Amino acid sequence: MLLITICVGSSCSLRGSDELATELFHLIEKEKLEGMVDIVGAFCMDACSKGVSVRVGEREFSGIRPEQAKTFFYKEVFARIDNKLASHSPEAQVAPASPGKEGAS
Ligand code: FES
Repeated sequence: MLLITICVGSSCSLRGSDELATELFHLIEKEKLEGMVDIVGAFCMDACSKGVSVRVGEREFSGIRPEQAKTFFYKEVFARIDNKLASHSPEAQVAPASPGKEGAS
């Protein structure tokens, strides 16, 4: 489970943390990532000056604006889930072909 923590402290709330959370929820639903990604709220994450503070797993971001939700989601959330899924897919488990063996008969 990848956890997205969104600051809901007063400064981040004024900068749109609720709107950002709503957008991210919609994107999680759209990509059918329920059960793989969840969103929780947190109080002040000590980075109030720029915009909404967000943590994705262990990575922290600040200055995220609600209108950046889609770009942020696909770059920082979806890409991580996609990489995780790819590394567990059967295709990813297959050893790469040895170079130079093709046509060597
Ligand atoms: S209120 Fe969000 S980081 Fe301080």
